[in-house]
Amino acid sequence: MCSMTELVERLRRGEALSKPELVALIEGDDETGEELRALAEKIRIENYGHDIYVRGLIEFSNYCSQNCRYCGIRAGNTDCMRYRLSFDDIMHCCAEGYELGFRTFVLQGGEDPYFTDERMCAIITAIREKYQDCAITLSLGEKPRESYQRFFDSGADRYLLRHETANPEHYAKLHPVRQTLENRVRCLYNLRDIGYQVGCGFMVGSPFQTSENLAEDLLFIRELNPQMIGIGPFIPHAQTEFRDFPPGSLRLTLRMLSILRIMLPRVLLPATTALATIDSRGREKGILAGANVVMPNLSPVSVRKKYQLYDNKVCTGEESAQCRFCLEQRINSIGCRIVTDRGDSKNR
Ligand code: 5AD
Ligand code: FES
Repeated sequence: MCSMTELVERLRRGEALSKPELVALIEGDDETGEELRALAEKIRIENYGHDIYVRGLIEFSNYCSQNCRYCGIRAGNTDCMRYRLSFDDIMHCCAEGYELGFRTFVLQGGEDPYFTDERMCAIITAIREKYQDCAITLSLGEKPRESYQRFFDSGADRYLLRHETANPEHYAKLHPVRQTLENRVRCLYNLRDIGYQVGCGFMVGSPFQTSENLAEDLLFIRELNPQMIGIGPFIPHAQTEFRDFPPGSLRLTLRMLSILRIMLPRVLLPATTALATIDSRGREKGILAGANVVMPNLSPVSVRKKYQLYDNKVCTGEESAQCRFCLEQRINSIGCRIVTDRGDSKNR
């Protein structure tokens, strides 16, 4: 095995590292971590300058028919207070977001049967007509290919669907039997085929995850070559069976962000809310480790606390405008700036 510096250099050159080589990078000491971080920051600047893209996240329903074992809004959680935003609520969030400079709206929800294809298409069409200069991102989970196609034809541009883990045995430990990695991956390839800009992703430090699993995530992502990758630490939720598992670490999450930035120099990489939740300067640290996107919440404050995938989620009491300005300051404090732009991926 070659030295760490050599491995980092081979990663930078775009070589396909083997699984054991990736494990070595994932498990390497803090010196390796800093080497990865510094290079990732440099690559972020080469590709995106000091621009940070913002996405307005609209969490429009926490009803979900799936039962991911780590997630606070899973169907089996009978203590979860459910809500749905109306068509008008959603349009109001967009209007407020547009005023604040957002040019991407992310419609995220549980897999809620109330939001049929017809209802979703009506929402997408209305946003598309009113905000022609904006991108529409969906995050609605697994759907038949025909539904993805209808949403796309109505004007959606992007789709986020984390693969969660690329290892089928690990996937089976995190999900009930009827949810399979095979179907998740099929959905991702269908989305790509249709023409969406696609985002996959995973949690760092999820229960039973090994360094080999993380290396497998990297290999899977290299193969899929997505436009976006959402990663954040696992955080236990008290109303799930994983309540007593430890959260994922800041250190490892930052390292994975850096490796991803080096591997896919032009990918869009958010510093996630989960990262901000485990560290008060998590987002800033994420950006300094290679991230270039932030996704503040545009949902009405009245429902925010109810979209609780994990405990202690930050920003659930702040108005959209408060988060917008708080983020602006945080991002300026590290020498970057928020841009009012659709912020399309340069990874094409
Ligand atoms: N901790 C961190 N992230 C979580 N997600 C779901 N539950 C948790 C949790 N307990 C992530 C999943 C999902 C995304 C919307 O949120 O990766 O894809
Ligand atoms: Fe929401 Fe700081 S980003 S309060």
